[in-house]
Amino acid sequence: MRKKIAAGNWKMNTTVDEGKKLAKDICDMIAKKPLKTINGNPGVIFFTPFVHLIEISKIIDGLDGVYAGAQNCHSKPSGAFTGEVSASMIKSAGITHVLVGHSERRNLFNENNKMLAAKASIAVENDLKIVFCCGELLDERENEKHFDVIRNQLKEGLFWMDERSFSNALIAYEPVWAIGTGVNATPGQAQEMHAFIRKQIAEKYGKKIAENFTILYGGSCNSKNAKQLFKQEDVDGGLIGGASLKAGEFFKIVQSF
Ligand code: PGA
Repeated sequence: MRKKIAAGNWKMNTTVDEGKKLAKDICDMIAKKPLKTINGNPGVIFFTPFVHLIEISKIIDGLDGVYAGAQNCHSKPSGAFTGEVSASMIKSAGITHVLVGHSERRNLFNENNKMLAAKASIAVENDLKIVFCCGELLDERENEKHFDVIRNQLKEGLFWMDERSFSNALIAYEPVWAIGTGVNATPGQAQEMHAFIRKQIAEKYGKKIAENFTILYGGSCNSKNAKQLFKQEDVDGGLIGGASLKAGEFFKIVQSF
């Protein structure tokens, strides 16, 4: 069965105290209305800034189906990389998930598919689950290159994995033109690309794995459009930026399956 997920990507927002309050407010709502009583029995992941993670993992402790994740990790195990954080450090903090290849990492920090493949590799070696992000730029869509772009990002960044490693991956499709713009992909556009991604997975790993694989949509997803997006056959949830920073709004999205 495909796992449904609502994940919040907090990006570089909130102080530690603000982040603790945000997580606590959401967790209080979940405690009152457990995830397994919600349609789809979704999982929830908070992708928080690094310095928040240990505190957030204390807050979610004991709540079924709620996880904390890092937004990035370095591609090397350890060493002279001032300012970086390794996958084993994340794991040692009791964290279970990490984002790999968010478009802001790709576009603002020049992370290419080769580097992302190395990050994905070290993350799964350390038993972290990865959410591998892919997405095309506006001009790539306008020039009808979006399918080629996604195919290539998956092929170079992720599809080198063997089946076992791949079972620790999820994919988030996040068209760059939809991120933080207020212009979400239409449910039809999301479904079309998600179906394409699932087909790529089926060709590489077989139909059964593809059928059970979770593919999230991200890009201006909010409580108003989540239901329509999540209703699409191949959309298994969302990676939510701006709308994950308000507890009530995010919890509405969690209940949109
Ligand atoms: P957004 O961001 O929901 O604010 O568009 C999504 C993301 O970047 O993961």
